[in-house]
Amino acid sequence: MPARLVKTGGWAHTLRLIATLSVAALAACATPPQRQAADEPKAERINPLRGQAEAIASGEKHYARHCASCHGEGATKPGPAADLRNIGRTCRRLTDPGLQQRCHLDADVYFLKTVEEGKLRLGIRHMPAWKDLISTEEAWAIQAFIETRPR
Ligand code: HEC
Repeated sequence: MPARLVKTGGWAHTLRLIATLSVAALAACATPPQRQAADEPKAERINPLRGQAEAIASGEKHYARHCASCHGEGATKPGPAADLRNIGRTCRRLTDPGLQQRCHLDADVYFLKTVEEGKLRLGIRHMPAWKDLISTEEAWAIQAFIETRPR
């Protein structure tokens, strides 16, 4: 406590204390709870099937049926649409587990959203929406498969 406050005595001290507590209370109120929630990694949107052999095998079949015609056979041959091996590629190189988790979260949220909603650019549909045609599990399996493909 600064010497000045000790000298001026009780009231100044009490007022200073009230002011400090009010600022702390205001700061607590000013942080909306939904903002904290948005900063939390949403575990359910991180691909739960990453690296699992069974999912990779079924993902290969779903990929061949639904995606290969545009994204290239086996996800390695060039196709008319984007090379899907690029999504989340940099995450695998990260050594910090927390950073890697965040990186996967960003990539997985983007992957799933794109697959579910498709791609619309300047009003032109580049990719159909898949949400009524494949399940979330199938989409994760496809991603798990793509991630195993060599470059
Ligand atoms: C009819 C062709 C077509 C089919 C079939 C198709 N896509 Fe696409 N997809 C595209 C095109 C074109 C783009 C690029 C759109 C753009 O440039 O904005 C794209 C983009 C994407 C992207 C974003 C790529 C990036 O680098 O940003 C993802 C993810 C994706 N597709 C996943 C899939 C999956 C998974 C399937 C199979 C379930 C699939 N697509 C089937 C045409 C297709």
